[in-house]
Amino acid sequence: MQYDIVIKSGELVSSHGRTRADLGIIGEKIAAIGHDLDGREVLDATGMLVFPGALDVHTHFQLPFCGTVSADDFVSGSKAAALGGVTTFIDFAIQARPASIMDAVRARRAEADPKVCVDYGLHAGVTEWNPDRVREIPEIFEAGVSSFKMFMIYKAQGWQSNDGDLFGAIREVKRFGGMIGVHAENNDLIDLLQDETDGADHPGCYAHAVSRPTVTESEAISRAIQLAEAADGALYIVHLSTGASADIVRAARLRGVNVHAETGPQYLLLDDELFKREDGHHFGTCPPIRKPADQETLWDRLADGTLEVLATDTCTFNSTQKAMWNGDYKSIPFGMPGIETMVPLTYSKGVREGRITLEQMIALLCENPARLFGLWPRKGSLAVGSDADVVIFDPTCEVTITPEVLATNCDYSPFEGTKVKGWPQTTLLRGRVVVRDRTFTGEPGQGRFLHRKPAFAPIDDTES
Ligand code: URP
Ligand code: ZN
Ligand code: ZN
Repeated sequence: MQYDIVIKSGELVSSHGRTRADLGIIGEKIAAIGHDLDGREVLDATGMLVFPGALDVHTHFQLPFCGTVSADDFVSGSKAAALGGVTTFIDFAIQARPASIMDAVRARRAEADPKVCVDYGLHAGVTEWNPDRVREIPEIFEAGVSSFKMFMIYKAQGWQSNDGDLFGAIREVKRFGGMIGVHAENNDLIDLLQDETDGADHPGCYAHAVSRPTVTESEAISRAIQLAEAADGALYIVHLSTGASADIVRAARLRGVNVHAETGPQYLLLDDELFKREDGHHFGTCPPIRKPADQETLWDRLADGTLEVLATDTCTFNSTQKAMWNGDYKSIPFGMPGIETMVPLTYSKGVREGRITLEQMIALLCENPARLFGLWPRKGSLAVGSDADVVIFDPTCEVTITPEVLATNCDYSPFEGTKVKGWPQTTLLRGRVVVRDRTFTGEPGQGRFLHRKPAFAPIDDTES
């Protein structure tokens, strides 16, 4: 039997362990795992790690936000994804009320479909909750969008949901097996603390950290969890940033709440002293980067399985856009690039430095997000029958992160100067080599929109 492509003699990694074997690919699928496989094209992976293409389930490409549009569009962002070993991303279709959520899904697909260089899905961003929204839920699932996102902040953007909206939405989407994601920060408390911070003399944009202490996130997470528990539905906490918040999630999980959470490299590796620098506003994101003690707890909670997903919240603003802050920390275009460096940073700082195992890395970057977002086992898996989304990763490749070595459309990197050991060399998307020897060989439009299944069994507890 001759396969279209054989990836030869690599160390295949899953959350369960490692095995040295060949991977045979036919068309878009993984067709065999074995030894001495014969291929029309052979990719030598001797000395390499071979794992499933990672999923980044939290991106904002070409997002109109904070008075500008995020600088990575669907081409540059998804090309950066491929170069960084990410073969699936999930972005957001945010409802522009009074238009419907489905209008946003259609508009976002029209923007993304011709441009994407890897596969992608969409979360539905819900910005109002009323009977019209309830009526369109079945159509949204039908369209392959099985996860939702609501914001407990961003009043000014018109995105904020109140507690009743959040409770109602969790209760409704559980009937379809869907999950509500939430950006959990306490808007009122932040408003108060920002008023108190005004006029105080903080270096750089450190006032951003001062006005958003831990409680502004942990209280909101705690509240959202209680609402999900009362509604008996599924909740996903996006970009969780503090140790206290992670401990709240842990306690809830232990008592059986269907709550899940992600954190990202920025919260694991960057601390809020950076805000004091002259370019501190480059690191401005919501919630803010935190303290070294938070980083330690977040790593521990990744290792013990409380935090199940690593995702980047990529929302790139270049230095010209970031300069729009003009000295006012409340006007920073909030967000940072990250999709291209997630896999190498997780490997170098997580696995190499002994904070998580390689197997846990695959769970966090591939398997758990695929399961939680309705893509398992098509994505995130090297099993026979799965999409042949594969990363050939050189664990000895040393790179110093600078904007010049990245395809991300940004003139700085939040991780600039960081030395990593381990970088993706070759990436396959559904059996096609889209990155070869760290050079992009694919093309815009080759990615596909993914119709995602609900992650959970539907629960219908309405009274008959
Ligand atoms: O500051 C951030 N995180 N910008 C992106 C939008 C969001 O809140 O996720
Ligand atoms: Zn957010
Ligand atoms: Zn986000």
